[in-house]
Order: sequence, then structure tokens, then C-alpha cells
Amino acid sequence: MSTREHWGSRFGFIMAAAGSAVGLGNIWRFPYITGENGGGAFLVIYLGIVIGFGLSLMMAEMLVGRSAQRNPVGAFRQLGGKGWPLVGFLGVLTGFVILSFYIVVAGWTLSYIGQMARGLLHSRYPAVLGSAFEGFVADPWRPLAYAAVFMVLVAWVVTGGISRGIERANRWLMPILFLLLLVLVTRALTLPGAAQGMAFYLTPDWSKVDGGTFFAAISQVFFSFSIGMGTMLTYGSYLSLRENLPRSALTVGALDCLAAFLSGLMVIPAVFAFGFSPSAGPGLTFITLPAVFAALPGGDLFGMLFFTLLAIAALTSAVSILEPLVSYVIDEHGLPRRVVVAGASVVCFLLAVPASLSFGPWSEVTVFGKTWFDLMDFLANNLMLPVGGLLTALFVGWVWGRPALTALSNEHQLHQPWAVAWLWILRVVAPVAITWILITNLS
Ligand code: TRP
Repeated sequence: MSTREHWGSRFGFIMAAAGSAVGLGNIWRFPYITGENGGGAFLVIYLGIVIGFGLSLMMAEMLVGRSAQRNPVGAFRQLGGKGWPLVGFLGVLTGFVILSFYIVVAGWTLSYIGQMARGLLHSRYPAVLGSAFEGFVADPWRPLAYAAVFMVLVAWVVTGGISRGIERANRWLMPILFLLLLVLVTRALTLPGAAQGMAFYLTPDWSKVDGGTFFAAISQVFFSFSIGMGTMLTYGSYLSLRENLPRSALTVGALDCLAAFLSGLMVIPAVFAFGFSPSAGPGLTFITLPAVFAALPGGDLFGMLFFTLLAIAALTSAVSILEPLVSYVIDEHGLPRRVVVAGASVVCFLLAVPASLSFGPWSEVTVFGKTWFDLMDFLANNLMLPVGGLLTALFVGWVWGRPALTALSNEHQLHQPWAVAWLWILRVVAPVAITWILITNLS
């Protein structure tokens, strides 16, 4: 225990946690989900969920990890005893499920950096770009090769350990990421016609809102905040007990929301300026945006920057999806990090094979009417993360309870009324909201 590695600095921890949170979820998923769900109205609901219980859950996870100084399974065992380690196991399992599709999409972004650089995506017609995209993802080999390259990058960072691997990568990559984001947002907002997109993005259209909107918003918050599977718990376990958690969680949450908001600003006005639809779905990033870039002076360069941004965001997030299961095997079975990372990466890659083939040769192979890729995405986002988050909230609120308050506030880090509000959010608000949304949407 005394040998557990810790973050080298507070800044390093914040960058690593923000690196986990800011990922494909913000840049690829957030703009199209917002586009499909009424623009401004979705923004308001999203922010409501973040404040309502998202931040509280993030802080709860970090606190469990920091207090136990262990991986998700060990932490729940230490603080909760029998039965609860299962929540940790669920998290470890969720990590495999998420990575299996995450590295496929991340691989696409790597390939798109190269395709942009070589000017292969130089077309103003989404139809042309659509068939280029579909042709690429349907190929049985090429996307898998990129997924493998990406997995190797992830494994390389994680093998370096906490301060010399994960922290170091994030300390460099996250500032670069925000810089790229600002450059691209500036470009997007100075396009003629951007105003109309801004109006769509910022003016709430409540007619598009129904129960499904809330479901989409809750899953999006879970995915984007990296909560519900023990990522924030594991990162918290590398913190010293002195760290000011409320402030850190607030900073990380704010950075994540900022990145999502800026991604919307970068994507939605540009899409409007060129007369495309913001509700183009997952293809928005890979099909519609290259058409936007093709119409811009110096567009290939901006396109390259954009896909580099996406790849960096995906890398720092994928690292954080792998680390909980790596820390579990290291803590509980005492294997060397190097060996665990290598083994876990091979398993993740093998799981990514059917996910990638879902877009090509195996597109007809379905379980419950979904391809493997869609099934993994659905299982993780709509089931495993919310259930993991629900159980974590119940655990901290009711099982750990008052001692959790002490763990949090005996260092005078949170004023008493806020601390009590936090506890009741975990006890009632989060469980009720998550249960309600799961029941109404899965039945
Ligand atoms: N938050 C990341 C994104 O927005 C993805 C991610 C990283 C994640 N770690 C996680 C999602 C843990 C759920 C749980 O892309």
C-alpha cells in the first residue's frame, strides 16, 4: 500500500481527469446528439443534469478512490464489504465493453488525419464523402490496422504508470487540445452564415424534447464525465488524502462542459454555414465536416488539425478506460504493470474486431436486432454506466453514509450545508432520476 504511486502534482491530476472526461464523447458525440435533440433545449437539460447530480457523482467516485487508495474492486470491498465488490467488477467489465468500440472510432480518426493530409477528402458533397467513409469503415482490414495502432499508443502511455505515463501525456496533450479547439472555434465563428447555426445551437426548441431527450442527456453526461465504471474512482485513488476534492471535481466538470460546448460551437455553425443538417448523426464528424473543410481556404490543414484534436482527445480518454482494469489486476493479483497492460490490450483488440466488422462483412450479424458495435455502445451507455452510477450513488449515500461526509468535510473542504446537500443528492436525487429514466426507456 505504501508503494502506491501518486500524481506528481495537482495540475497533473486535473489534466489527467479532464483528459479522461474530454474525449470522443465531447467532440464527436456531443454535437450530433445536440443536433438531434433540438439544439439549445438539449444544452439546458444537459447542464441541469450536470448540476443536478453529475458533479456530485464525479466527486463521490473520486472520494471512494481517494479514501480507499485502491482499484474499484478493492475500494468497494474495503469500504463496503460483502457484495459491493461486484460494483467494481461491473466497472472493470464495462471498461472492456467501452474500449471495444471506442478504439474502433479512435482508429478512424487516425486514418482521417492521413486522408486529410493527402487531400483524399477534398469534396464538397456529403454524398461523395459518405461513400468514402462507408467504403473505409466497411473494409475488413484497414480500420482494424488503425485500431491496433491506436491500442498500441494507449498501451504505451498506460505502461508508463501514473506520474510518468498517464500524467505526463495529459500534461502535454490537454493544453494542446484546448489550443486546437480554440483555433477551430475561431475559424468556425468567422464563417459567413455562422449566425444561423449559432441561433440553432443556443435557442431552445422545446418541441423536440420528450422522455428520450432526458435519456440521451443522462447517458451523455455519464459517458462524458467518465462516471459509472470506476475511472474517476481509480484516478482518485492516486490522490493524496490532502487533495481538495470539491474544487478538483468542479474544475474537471467545468473543463468537460467547456470542451463540449466549444465542440458544438466549432461544428454546428460551420455545418449551417454550408447548408448541411446538424442532425446528420454519427456521420456528422466524418462525412459532413470534411465537406465543410473542402469549402474553406486552407481547409485540408484545418481538417488535419480537427482530426488530430479528435485523436488526442480519444487517446487520453482511452487511457483512462484501460487504467481501472489494469489497476485492479495489479492490486489484487500483484502482476507487473507491463504484463497486465499487454494482456488487457490484446483482449481489447480482439473485442474490437467484431465491432469493426459490424460496418462491413458482419453488418448482417445482429443480436437483439443490433450489430456488435451498436450492441456494445448500447450496453455500455444505456445500461452499464447508469447502473454503475446508480449503485455508486446508493453506496456512498446509504452504505458509507455519514463517514463519507466526514471523509469529505473534516478537512474543511466543503461547507456543511453543501456537504449535506451532496449526500442527499446521492441518496435521493440521483437514484430516483436514474431509475426513472432506466425504467421508462428500457420497457
Ligand atoms: N469521457 C470520455 C469521452 O467523453 C470517455 C470515457 C473515458 C469514459 N473514461 C470513461 C466513459 C469511463 C465512461 C466511463 O469520450
